[in-house]
Amino acid sequence: MQKRYHVTTFGCQMNEHDSERMKGMLETLGYAEVAEPDQADLILFNTCSIRESADSRFIAHLGHAKRHKRNNPDVLIGVGGCWAQSVKDEVFQRFPFVDVAFGPGQIHKLAEFLTSDSLTAQGFFEFEDFPAQLPTKRARDLHAWLQISVGCNMKCSYCIVPSTRGRESSRPFDGLVEEVTRLAADGVREVTLLGQNVNAYGRDLRPQRRTFAELLHAVDAVDGIERIRYTSPHPQDMKEDVVLAHRDLAGVCPHMHLPLQSGSSRILKAMRRTYSRERYLDRVALIREHVPDTSLTTDIIVGFPGETEEDFQQTLEVCEEVGYDSAFTFVFSPRRGTEAAEMTEGLVPHPVKIERMERLVEVVQRRATERAQRFVGRTLDVLVEGPSRNDPTKLRGRSPHNKVVNFTGVATPGDIVPVHITAATSQTLAGEASLLATASAR
Ligand code: 5AD
Ligand code: SF4
Repeated sequence: MQKRYHVTTFGCQMNEHDSERMKGMLETLGYAEVAEPDQADLILFNTCSIRESADSRFIAHLGHAKRHKRNNPDVLIGVGGCWAQSVKDEVFQRFPFVDVAFGPGQIHKLAEFLTSDSLTAQGFFEFEDFPAQLPTKRARDLHAWLQISVGCNMKCSYCIVPSTRGRESSRPFDGLVEEVTRLAADGVREVTLLGQNVNAYGRDLRPQRRTFAELLHAVDAVDGIERIRYTSPHPQDMKEDVVLAHRDLAGVCPHMHLPLQSGSSRILKAMRRTYSRERYLDRVALIREHVPDTSLTTDIIVGFPGETEEDFQQTLEVCEEVGYDSAFTFVFSPRRGTEAAEMTEGLVPHPVKIERMERLVEVVQRRATERAQRFVGRTLDVLVEGPSRNDPTKLRGRSPHNKVVNFTGVATPGDIVPVHITAATSQTLAGEASLLATASAR
C-alpha cells in the first residue's frame, strides 16, 4: 500500500520552501500527502527557533503525534529545521519517540534514512555545502520560491540563524536563471527569491562575482515571469543598484521588506546590526526618492536587553516617520547559543515588553491605515489567487505592493486583473474588477 506523509511547517518562508522540497522528495519516493497527521505513516515537523510561540505549538503537535504512534507503532516521526539543528541530538533525549531528526541543510538525508533499513533513530546535522537539487512540490502553481543562497555571515546578536544555517553560500548565477526559465515554461508567473540575507547574493561566487541587482535584471528578462519578490534583505546591503532595479524593471514589485529591528542606534549596536538609525533612514530616503510608491514593510523586536523607554521611543519615532505598510513585531526572546542570550544587564520585564508591544502595534497599524489610503481610487493589477477567505462570493488576490485585495468580479486564479480600489484598511484593500479593462487584457 502507498505510504502516506504529513508535514507541519513552523516559522519563516525559508521553512515553507524547505517543506516544499521535502514534499517533492517524498513524492519521488512514492509517498502521498494526506491532510491530517493521524492518517499518515510518516509525520514530519519542520521547526523554527526564531519565534517562541511556534515552539509551544510544535510541542503540542508533537504530543499528538506521539499518541498516534502509540496506537500505530509503525508510524515514523521526523523533526527537521532550525530548532532541531539548534539542539541536535538532544531531540532524542527530549522526545525519545522521534525516529529521525535533521537540520535545514540535511533534507536529502531524510531520503537516505527512509530508503535504508535503519531501525534506530538517527540525527543528521552536519553542515555540508549547498544542498543537493531536490524536486519541489509547489503549493501555488503560479508562484515559486527560489532559494538563491543559504546561510548568513552577519552576527546579529539575537539570531540563531548563523549557527543553524551556517556561512553564506550563493547558488551559481546561470543555474538560477535556467531554473527560472524552466519554472516560467511550467506556468509560474511570480517568483520569490529567498535567502537569509538575500541581497548579499553573489559576493562569494567564483571566478566571477555577481550582485543581487544583476540577478534581478536576469530574472526580469525571463519571458513569462511577471512578478519578482525577494526576502529578506539586510539594510546594509540595500544598495542603490537594487533600488534602481525596482524603479527600472517592470517585473520587480514595488515592495521592499527592510528589517529595522530597533530605532535606537545604541540598541542596534548591541544587536550588531551594522547600521545606525540615521543610516537606516538614509536608505529609506533613497528608496522614497527613486520609487516613492514602494510599500515598505519591516521586522521589529521590542524588549531587547538594555532597551530603555527612551530607546523604545526612538523605535516609535522611526515607525511614525517611515510609515510602514505593515510590520512583523516580535517580543525579544533569548535563543540558546546566541550572544544576546548571555546578556544580563537591563533585562526588560515581561509586562513592560507587552506594554511596549501594544504601543508599537498601535503606531504601526495607524500609519499603515494612513499609507493604504493612497491606493483608494487607483486601479491596481491584482494577481488572482482564489476565493476571498471571509466572503466566498468575492475573489482574493495580491497587488504588486503585496497587499491582499478582496474584490468583486469574475476571474480565474492566475489571471492578472485590473481592480478599482474602493476602500483600504491597514492590512487589506477592497475593490471591484474593472470589467472593460479585464476584457481588453485577455
Ligand atoms: N527574539 C525575538 N525576535 C527575533 N527575531 C529573530 N530572532 C529573534 C529573537 N531572539 C525576529 C527578527 C527577524 C525575524 C525573522 O525574527 O525581527 O528579522
Ligand atoms: Fe539572523 Fe542577522 Fe543573518 Fe538575518 S541578517 S539571518 S537576523 S544574523
